[in-house]
Amino acid sequence: MEQYAIKGGNPLVGEVEIGGAKNAALGILAAAVMTEETVTIENLPDLRDTAAMLQAMESIGIKVERVNRHTVKITAKSIRDLVIEEDSIKKIRASYYFLGALLGKYRRAEVALPGGCNIGLRPIDQHIKGFRALGADVRIERGLVITEAQQLKGTHIYLDVVSVGATINVMMAAVMAEGKTIIENAAKEPHIVDVANFLNSMGANVKGAGTDVIRIKGVSKLHGTEYAIIPDQIEAGTFMFAAAVTKGDVTVKNVIPKHLESISAKLMEIGCEVEESDDAVRVVAAKPLTHTHVKTLPYPGFPTDMQPQITVALGLSKGTSIVTESIFENRFKYVDELTRMGANIKVEGNTAIIDGVSKYTGASITAPDLRAGAALVTAALAAEGISTIDDIKFIERGYEDFPQKLQSLGAQIEKVSTDRELQKFRLKIG
Ligand code: UD1
Repeated sequence: MEQYAIKGGNPLVGEVEIGGAKNAALGILAAAVMTEETVTIENLPDLRDTAAMLQAMESIGIKVERVNRHTVKITAKSIRDLVIEEDSIKKIRASYYFLGALLGKYRRAEVALPGGCNIGLRPIDQHIKGFRALGADVRIERGLVITEAQQLKGTHIYLDVVSVGATINVMMAAVMAEGKTIIENAAKEPHIVDVANFLNSMGANVKGAGTDVIRIKGVSKLHGTEYAIIPDQIEAGTFMFAAAVTKGDVTVKNVIPKHLESISAKLMEIGCEVEESDDAVRVVAAKPLTHTHVKTLPYPGFPTDMQPQITVALGLSKGTSIVTESIFENRFKYVDELTRMGANIKVEGNTAIIDGVSKYTGASITAPDLRAGAALVTAALAAEGISTIDDIKFIERGYEDFPQKLQSLGAQIEKVSTDRELQKFRLKIG
């Protein structure tokens, strides 16, 4: 089984280039099916999740041409089928974006019920509410969400919960509907703005993305475009927190510092220096870390996808910290693994009470999901001794070249597949 072998203790130092945003990419890839003309997408991260989306697209006859590792040309001229039920797509959450995109363009879609990280109940009732409000029929049969409409008509939709997925999905379904659609209580994450900008570059008329009211004027046709995806806020934040926990000095490059404000603010609160420039942020952790309280919230609040990473840092911070998870109800599963490394954390419902310890020690641990997996890697990088992390397939869903990027900052980490390779790693690092 593939795992990461990590010897902790080295401060991470240097510069690291951040890739394109996974969650923007997944929406944008789906939206690319909404025109028959060729769409060129640049800064596409090379991840398991993006590969699964592209594979699903090919399975229904869409032409996918990889220009290079981060650029892809998509032509949806020859769609054979509106049914997406590939095995690989069942594992990812963003498969639901094909519902909005195919319904919007072809007035019909059948997509396997979404999978993704097991971090709590992840209903799609708000997506369905939006599609129905636009005039579509939606039903669940044979493990598929089936949606179809004679005609989609612009309307006024109030989302009962602030949902990234529902906002993007309803936006896609509405761009080719007849007339005006208003989405109220929309999510405001940077990737929502990115998907809206992408749709607009294809000829859509979407205004207000990034605020809580999105206004869409339906257009009859979308055209080809060339578009570069924004940098990944969470990959950047993960490296920023990796700098903090290893007492390092890391500059994350190719980022939009505005998207990182809540992350930078929390790092400063716990004693790090954070310097921003036009497209980079430097985190220096010269002083011991101190405690704080944090609650995850929709953007511009502190992201739930950064909750495990900050918990790892607070586990090593002086004093008692409280982390409250307000988005997903089952997002503290990794705490058991962190406890095995010496953390002192008590979880009560959606709150973790953390008493900082002076060090973590290496252990054999398992990644329970994508972001928690990455956070456990940062814990292992800070820990005394050697750790192994299993189930790295989760981490590979959202981090491109994670071990290589960490190595370039001085980390001792390797991907190993056999006991022999693990043994070699142990001998090499001495
Ligand atoms: C997206 C991200 C994920 C991130 C999350 C919150 C993708 C592929 N994934 O997930 O990494 O952690 O946003 O920033 O972009 N909800 C409902 N009904 C719905 C939809 C959502 O009750 O129809 C609830 C969810 O259970 C959750 C909250 O709304 O409690 C937010 O979920 P949402 O923003 O939709 O998350 P995802 O789109 O699944």
